[in-house]
Amino acid sequence: MRCVTNWWMRIIYKIPLNQLMFRRTTKFFLKDTLCKMTLSTTTPAESIIFAPETYQYTKGHLDESEVDSNPLLQFHQWFRHAQEEKPPGSSIIPECTTFSTARLPEGRVSSRVVLMKELDKTGFVVYTNLDNSKKFKDYQTNKYASLTYFWPHIERQVRVEGLMEEVGRDVSTRYFNTRPRGSKIGAWASPQSEVIQSRDELSELNADYEKKFKDLSDDEIPCPERWGGLRIVPLEIEFWQGGASRLHDRITYRRETVDDSQWNVVRLAP
Ligand SMILES: Cc1cc2nc3c(=O)[nH]c(=O)nc-3n(C[C@H](O)[C@H](O)[C@H](O)COP(=O)(O)O)c2cc1C
Repeated sequence: MRCVTNWWMRIIYKIPLNQLMFRRTTKFFLKDTLCKMTLSTTTPAESIIFAPETYQYTKGHLDESEVDSNPLLQFHQWFRHAQEEKPPGSSIIPECTTFSTARLPEGRVSSRVVLMKELDKTGFVVYTNLDNSKKFKDYQTNKYASLTYFWPHIERQVRVEGLMEEVGRDVSTRYFNTRPRGSKIGAWASPQSEVIQSRDELSELNADYEKKFKDLSDDEIPCPERWGGLRIVPLEIEFWQGGASRLHDRITYRRETVDDSQWNVVRLAP
């Protein structure tokens, strides 16, 4: 930029003195214009990672004519397949999903991995802290959320968009009771997403609750009041099957409200 501006300036300075006013105006105009031009010209940034290996997806196709009319049943089919096709010894967890929420009024989005612990006739249930966690704070300002599953071994993705609701205490307690003792105590001990001073602080909190519950059997440890399930009731679910040369299949179910029983099924361009 500096070079280009100076070059123009040298031409300008050859203009006779009596055109000084014109020269000054031109100089200002050129400097300003060229600066803007330079700012809008992008140069490649110094990449830390650039164009990693690309993959070809070849494991099959998804056709509108084959899918279930109920997307939750279609999800169940794909989920079972993801479980059955897990390569031996692999660490793939089919119920692992990226859960995204957004805080209003800023619209600031946050995502995290969680485990879906239940699919019922209404939606997808995940369990978490219902007090301090960012996802719960987001939920309090904005009920919209999304879940994204990726099952690389079968080259499939499922995207869910919908509205969150808290499940009943009976539902949360039923799941809480299946957790091992250590996880139950952990749910009490961890003020999820609050700042803590050290690992030791967490260990002390945990030790306090171990002490508190020492006379209770595993089954008797109660579900914390502010820990429980959020259900994502879908408005849209997309089933993505990877295809060769990026010609993927995308079949999407949509409905206007969570009370509609009819789903509109469309194919989207990949
Ligand atoms: C594999 C995996 C599973 C997780 N499962 C859960 C879960 O089921 N519930 C949960 O609250 N956090 C789970 N977490 C931790 C979350 O990713 C996140 O750190 C936590 O929920 C706090 O997020 P938040 O403050 O944005 O709400 C999991 C993390 C990983 C990597």
